[in-house]
Amino acid sequence: TDLPVVVVGSANADIYVEIDRLPKEGETIAARGGQTLAGGKGANQAACAGRLSHPTYFVGQVGKDAHGSLMKDALSSCGVRLDYLNTVSDPTGHAVVMLQPGGQNSIIIVGGANVSWPILEDGMSCLSANAQQIIREAGIVLLQREVPNSLNLEVAKIARSANVPVILDAGGMEGPIPENLLKCIDIFSPNETELERLTGASTNTIDEVIEAAAKCHEMGVKQVLVKLGEKGSVLVTEGLPPILQPAILAPMVLDTTGAGDTFTAAFAVALVEGNSVAESLRFAAAAASLCIQVKGAIPSMPDRNAVLQLLKSVCSSAD
Ligand code: RIB
Repeated sequence: TDLPVVVVGSANADIYVEIDRLPKEGETIAARGGQTLAGGKGANQAACAGRLSHPTYFVGQVGKDAHGSLMKDALSSCGVRLDYLNTVSDPTGHAVVMLQPGGQNSIIIVGGANVSWPILEDGMSCLSANAQQIIREAGIVLLQREVPNSLNLEVAKIARSANVPVILDAGGMEGPIPENLLKCIDIFSPNETELERLTGASTNTIDEVIEAAAKCHEMGVKQVLVKLGEKGSVLVTEGLPPILQPAILAPMVLDTTGAGDTFTAAFAVALVEGNSVAESLRFAAAAASLCIQVKGAIPSMPDRNAVLQLLKSVCSSAD
């Protein structure tokens, strides 16, 4: 269907510093370069779905500042509808992305407007009536963990009441994921570290990952989509055999920032458009492989043609 993807979450200006290594305590080092690019887990997922030409709305908050304008411009140029993006008095969230050779990164986030949503009493909403309506009309809703749990919970409840599937990406803040949130979502998507943190189980091998994912079923989530970076991904559904998807290896890795967001959003787009779970995982793997070859989160989101081309070339090289 072309029912919209609705992403509720964070928008961050990603302040990149390109370094050869992380500084030691008390040490000052010079970066090889730096720039500010659009990012944030929520905005990244919305930008990815938009770049894939699927109708997409982003529900979030930015400040009345230059970073807010950067985010609005970046999202609009990916075709994302910003009707429910609030402009608030707190500064736009930002992230310091320390990018090391080989594309690995360490990130520190500053919440700003992303975390200034009002925490209201039960029965009250921090979303406008129209924003609530677009969630009810969505084909799928995507959440991550860079906004307050209370907002995620409210959105998940609205979606559930309208039978709209919700994917919660575990990426974001370190704090515990509330049990009532896990019970209101359809697909939980952690990487191996986040899965380990939630379940307390080790995730060193694929068998351990599958076992740990099954523990999430006991917490009330029927489907767990674990992202394993260059080892690919696995979808573990209660009562069904796991589905494994190898990564589509990139010829060069420039920057892995946003790869997980790309994977989740591309998977959601393919799924909502009626593809099978296995096909959607392949589509997501191709999108993520393209994302890591370009610097920046939002600047690295591939369009649909690029993803389809890559899938075609992977298929023909396997023949
Ligand atoms: O998932 C990548 C994102 O994490 C970055 O864009 C950064 O803003 C942080 O939120």
